[in-house]
Amino acid sequence: MVDKPHPANYVGAGYDRQAYDFYITPPEAVYALLEVEKFEGKTIWEPASGNGAISKILEKELPDFEIISSDIRPEGYGYGGVNFLARHLEVDNIITNPPYSLAEEFARHGFECARHKVALLLRLAFLEGQKRATWLWNSGLRRVWIFTWRIKFERGDGKQPENNMIAMAWFIWEKGYKGDVIIAPLLKRKQGENFWK
Ligand SMILES: C[S@@+](CC[C@H](N)C(=O)[O-])C[C@H]1O[C@@H](n2cnc3c(N)ncnc32)[C@H](O)[C@@H]1O
Repeated sequence: MVDKPHPANYVGAGYDRQAYDFYITPPEAVYALLEVEKFEGKTIWEPASGNGAISKILEKELPDFEIISSDIRPEGYGYGGVNFLARHLEVDNIITNPPYSLAEEFARHGFECARHKVALLLRLAFLEGQKRATWLWNSGLRRVWIFTWRIKFERGDGKQPENNMIAMAWFIWEKGYKGDVIIAPLLKRKQGENFWK
């Protein structure tokens, strides 16, 4: 079952973006989310799974959930060749670090598929923009957890690690939520506290 890639997934002209925006989320970013957000229900879908960086931690730390993993690339962790934007699967929660070029599409479609929460790791700058403002601030967005440090993403092709100087945040949408968006910091644990596995 190989879906056709979205045109926006092709490498952009002019600079060396990774094909399909494949960057690997470091474990600390996933653990930071699990410390502050609780998930309900039985299923979690990681629909842009890459090499399973998020999925494997979810499988380990949330053993009571069925973790469904898929990615548009055939070699993706779990089910390969699945274009998330062309699939409707009802699940309780969605957690992913999506291709940034399709962040809004992932948020909108994720919200259609999830019964409870959608958690997306996005650039903090996703909050900006006049075009998306009307949707964003009435979209069920409940919390934005801002990293108080810069997290480093490795390129999916194994080339030299990127020094990510971009501010990132976990954006949490919740079904049925109407109200103010809460913005809060993610604080890095002190060394020796043995939290960031
Ligand atoms: C930023 S990487 C993140 C990978 C993984 N979630 C992680 O956190 O390490 C984005 C991933 O989205 C996948 N992707 C891009 N477009 C997609 C689409 N339309 N449907 C599903 N996956 C897609 C890419 O192949 C890539 O693995």
